[in-house]
Amino acid sequence: MKIAVPRENRADETRVALDPESCKKLIQLGMEVVVEAGAGAAAHFSDQAYQAAGATLAADAASLFTGADFVLKVNAPQVLPDGTHEVDHIQPGTMLLASLFPTRNLDAVNRMAARSLTAFSTDCIPRTTRAQAMDTLSSQGNIVGYKGVLLGTMELPKYYPMFMTAAGTTLPAKVFVIGAGVAGLQAIATAKRLGASVTATDVRPEVKEQIESVGGKYVGIDLKQAASAGGGYATELSAEDKALQAKLLAEHCATVDVVITTALIGGVFAPKLLDETIVNSMKPGSVIIDLGADGGGNCTLSKLGETVVVNGVKILAPLNLPATVPTHASMLFSRNLLNFMTAFWDKEAKRFNLDWTDDILKGCAVTHEGQVVHGPTQKALNQTPGGKA
Ligand code: NAI
Repeated sequence: MKIAVPRENRADETRVALDPESCKKLIQLGMEVVVEAGAGAAAHFSDQAYQAAGATLAADAASLFTGADFVLKVNAPQVLPDGTHEVDHIQPGTMLLASLFPTRNLDAVNRMAARSLTAFSTDCIPRTTRAQAMDTLSSQGNIVGYKGVLLGTMELPKYYPMFMTAAGTTLPAKVFVIGAGVAGLQAIATAKRLGASVTATDVRPEVKEQIESVGGKYVGIDLKQAASAGGGYATELSAEDKALQAKLLAEHCATVDVVITTALIGGVFAPKLLDETIVNSMKPGSVIIDLGADGGGNCTLSKLGETVVVNGVKILAPLNLPATVPTHASMLFSRNLLNFMTAFWDKEAKRFNLDWTDDILKGCAVTHEGQVVHGPTQKALNQTPGGKA
């Protein structure tokens, strides 16, 4: 089976789907790997390192995809600068594994179905113990939380830690983390390690203990309606609970120096939690790091991918933070893909076992035999004017 690893074309992307270490392991399992020249360069993996791992190099996408059985990518296929679409360069019937975020990328989904690709999305893998090692949401979410805190340290006109100096004592910065999933818990732990005083909130009740276990202090409301969808995913709050939470956020944000938001609904879309009134209640010089930016942003004043200042409050909404740590982000992403490929690799027959009775394979399949086969994506397409499932 021939695996193809293309160079990512997204403008802000520096990651690669397969690093030389995981490449070597796939080859040891009996797969053949072809890497597009330069694919790992931005993550500091040279073409020579791939060759040393046993891969062959393809000079361009056309030769890379010729005869490929399986494509490993980071992002959903997209339109290229020459106007063609990445999907059109992949041969019909090819299998593909990437972090597709299919409900955010419906055009790419339609094109993959039309091209008869069998596409799997790592962010749709069911959240089971067996699937943890394949979970790119976790491996990349960790990076988002870590890097988000560091961005805050660069923008805040204060220290994070308490310093006792001959010139006097500075108090620790107060950091408030909204949404304590993978990214949020890492943000709490990182801010704590830097010496900040950290509070955090979430809507899933089990999270209180997790916040405390990484050194944060939980603040929250007693929800009238449960907001847990299972698997670690949250649902949208009821109108009554939204009002209660808005009150808590308004009160608490006014007392802190840095607000870091990481809230997502269903792991995909960011609920709007901070509005103009809350931002205006914050102290001048304070900072909001909107880590929900990739999902549309948690703050109504965020400009995605940009920094704005409103009433002295700096609001950052960085996109694709894992790409700012490309070596480790690629290494961990690669291991997630390696674990997926290994789980379905039939060593005897030397082929990928499309076992549709397996909950992981079935759960993360997005397109197959010309159809969109992922329930939430079908629903999103049906709700989109002109979309088709
Ligand atoms: P996520 O990225 O979907 O959401 C981030 C956080 O925002 C969640 O904790 C969510 O409850 C919270 N949130 C949503 N609406 C909110 C609101 N209005 N106010 C405050 N917070 C809000 O979640 P993530 O980080 O992907 O995973 C969450 C949990 O899922 C993890 O802590 C873990 O327990 C579990 N998980 C399990 C996996 C497995 O078993 N294979 C893999 C990954 C995560």
